[in-house]
Amino acid sequence: MKRIEPELAVLLDPDWASGSLVDDVRRGLTRHPRTLPPRWLYDDHGSALFDQITRQPEYYPFNAERAILEAHADEIVAASGATALVELGSGTSEKTRLLLDAFTRTGQLTRFSPVDVSEGTLRDAAAQIADAYPGLEVVGVVGDFTLHLSHLPEGGRRMVAFLGGTIGNLYLEERSAFLSILADLLEPGDSLLLGTDLVKSTDRLIAAYHDEAGVTEDFIRNSLTVINRELGADFDQSAFTYIPFWDAHMERIDMRLRSEVPQRVTVPGADLFLDLDVGEEIRVEISTKFRISKVAAELEAAGLVVGRVWTDEPGDFALTLATKP
Ligand code: AVJ
Repeated sequence: MKRIEPELAVLLDPDWASGSLVDDVRRGLTRHPRTLPPRWLYDDHGSALFDQITRQPEYYPFNAERAILEAHADEIVAASGATALVELGSGTSEKTRLLLDAFTRTGQLTRFSPVDVSEGTLRDAAAQIADAYPGLEVVGVVGDFTLHLSHLPEGGRRMVAFLGGTIGNLYLEERSAFLSILADLLEPGDSLLLGTDLVKSTDRLIAAYHDEAGVTEDFIRNSLTVINRELGADFDQSAFTYIPFWDAHMERIDMRLRSEVPQRVTVPGADLFLDLDVGEEIRVEISTKFRISKVAAELEAAGLVVGRVWTDEPGDFALTLATKP
């Protein structure tokens, strides 16, 4: 079969400073606690840093999810009955190849649509997948899965894969809104394959987000670099400390940057200055951890029917397949 040239739809304004970054910075950094939406962590440099995180020994979710896919991709593909695969927050699509390989064995897949905010990463991934899977239509979307869900490629029986535990980055209200919107967009028979990291010992959770090599810290700090570059801000990295902690009540890792001095930061591109007290924190990212019953309840509340759940041997991570009735 012949290689098919990938198509790419770009839904994000490449000039971040002209668009929603300004709104997000204005809204997020002026309220308390000061917050930044995690999408701005994934410029090309941030995407490369995340890729490095997945290779840190403490960062178990990546390997745990891969172990599940290695063991069960054939069952997942068969259970889905899908002819089209959509992947939200696809990044390098490294693990997705396990699904694509399983689809190749059954011959049931005609289209793969990776969706990611990082254009460079998506272009590379789309080209590599098109090379490796001749005859597969690759239709990529450069977009934000919380904003551009209604632009997902249609047709065929779709399985939407949302892997890596990325849903854990959404706040509770965002998560239920996201799942309901997605469920409404799916056609009967379409399905969602959802990866969720599971609650486990605090020590392992903290270690995964505070690796020895400091890659996670660099990744979180990159948010300030992005605002400096895109909006001409003057965040001084040395005036902030990286503070990850486990919020036992919300069952999530909370990743913050704490101002070590009283300081004024100017953000010309957003027409803003921030007066930060000593000890004041900016919440850059959360990573919620789940219990299997809670995942099922949230999917059912959104209007999906939970089919099967797969976990790795130690029970660190879960993949849940839910279908639109
Ligand atoms: C890509 C969202 C799954 O929450 O574990 C890793 C992002 N942040 N280390 C996660 C992340 C810091 C990651 N996800």
